[in-house]
Amino acid sequence: MKIFIPQDMAAVAVGANRIAAAIEAEAAARNIPLTIVRNGSRGLFWLEPLLEVETQAGRIGYGKLTVADVKSLFDANIFDGGTHPKCVGPVEAIPFLARQTRFTFARAGIADPASLDDYRALGGYKGLEHALSIGPAAIVAAVKDSGLRGRGGAGFPTGIKWETVARTASDRKYIVCNADEGDSGTFADRLIMEADPFMLIEGMTIAGIGVGATKGYIYLRSEYPFAITMMNRAIDLARRAGLLGTTIHGSAHAFDIEVRVGAGAYVCGEETSLLESLEGKRGQVRAKPPLPAIKGLFGRPTIINNTITLASVPFILAEGAQRYAELGYGRSRGTMPIQIAGNVRHGGLFECAFGVTLGELVDDIGGGTASGRPVRAVQAGGPLGAYFPPSMFDTPYDYEAFAKRDGLIGHGGLVLFDDTADMAKMARFAMAFCAHESCGKCTPCRIGAIRGVETFDKIAAGIEPEKNLALVRDLCETMKLGSLCALGGFTPYPVLSALNHFPGDFAAKPLPLA
Ligand code: NAI
Ligand code: SF4
Repeated sequence: MKIFIPQDMAAVAVGANRIAAAIEAEAAARNIPLTIVRNGSRGLFWLEPLLEVETQAGRIGYGKLTVADVKSLFDANIFDGGTHPKCVGPVEAIPFLARQTRFTFARAGIADPASLDDYRALGGYKGLEHALSIGPAAIVAAVKDSGLRGRGGAGFPTGIKWETVARTASDRKYIVCNADEGDSGTFADRLIMEADPFMLIEGMTIAGIGVGATKGYIYLRSEYPFAITMMNRAIDLARRAGLLGTTIHGSAHAFDIEVRVGAGAYVCGEETSLLESLEGKRGQVRAKPPLPAIKGLFGRPTIINNTITLASVPFILAEGAQRYAELGYGRSRGTMPIQIAGNVRHGGLFECAFGVTLGELVDDIGGGTASGRPVRAVQAGGPLGAYFPPSMFDTPYDYEAFAKRDGLIGHGGLVLFDDTADMAKMARFAMAFCAHESCGKCTPCRIGAIRGVETFDKIAAGIEPEKNLALVRDLCETMKLGSLCALGGFTPYPVLSALNHFPGDFAAKPLPLA
């Protein structure tokens, strides 16, 4: 009998390794033959650790397990059709999963992520095979036709970026995967690397063939040690199988990948700062132009894309650009892996077509707050994203619709807060975060963020509140228009949304605020 227990870090953090060990020991003691597969996570985090048992009726789930449950699982004879109170039924039928359209995360949590055979058996490398058969120009055309936009946050059309690199003549070009997932409440990059690492390798290889690059780097944050291990293991296996190296899959194309570990600065997720860091320098933002697509890593044309952007490419090449493009809303085509976190009942990864409303995601799919109290606000798009109050939950999940309401989708994170959240504290936190993470290159961010914190403290102390609130707005305007990159330029989003939607929270209160 085959059973599955995730080795994903979200599952391990709540005891998956202890449960795997306890099940192994109990099975040995009772002489029950079990094959334990350490799969990736399905992304249903509130059910982790989630045990799945393979049966003729599909996989049956048991969650959220504790070590204390293990003996009773055996006593209940679950491996032979018995029932147990922790049974959640067929995993594929759990509404949170059944309602998803999984293009990019189709394989996540299904198999052993370190098995190339499993990857191939589940449709892996079909995209690369098709890419090799159609050649570079058609690869770039397919990505363009799919309508895929950058999933790191900015939503720039991926095909246009690739075309720019393809058309720029150079002796060398690079593919850089931005896996420095620094946004609070996001985990899609990590989940892909821990649950389906070959898909990222396949996507980067297709990009290399498409634009004529022979070397790729994955810039991976040090806070993700297991993802680093998984990616290195998968790269090694792909090399041995002739899927990376001097000839890709027997073709005339060469491509190889190296993992580089970041040292933990949020600003190194900004593309030019990341390139500086990759070159061995201090992670500081470069002025644009020149764009990395023209003059990027080591001065060469470089595709720098987020992990999810690159991981979306194998599906597009395998299934066709049209199949991807036919889903979506407005100019936001295909699917988005939305990460629901914070004070939420059903936290996890929900991949679906654009167009679902914020309210459906929060109330219906997320199930409201974990505390059971009313939702006060949702921060969309990481620490630089706006706070949306429930009155704006009719906003469709779409780059343009969010922008129209002074918000951003960012990397797809949603963080819920209940009615105990103090939005003045959150606004001050945005300024404090910016001050802490600023690379220091430009004045509006380096000095503005510190002045922002001080001004919020004056407001809380009741010192000239009207004048100081006007000063914060003025400061936000300066940071928005005068900052060199998104860190300083986007900090006004959380600050202004808190001021605009929750003005009552900015009355004088006991100090300190932090
Ligand atoms: P941007 O709008 O300057 O650029 C977007 C991308 O398009 C860049 O790669 C840029 O080089 C490229 N580009 C622009 N014009 C081009 C052209 N004509 N040809 C080829 N390529 C072109 O945005 P930026 O500063 O790169 O990113 C800002 C976003 O980053 C924000 O929306 C924010 O949500 C997101 N972000 C994501 C984080 C994460 O953890 N994933 C963390 C912090 C911010
Ligand atoms: Fe550096 Fe901040 Fe200026 Fe960005 S906005 S370049 S992080 S100082």
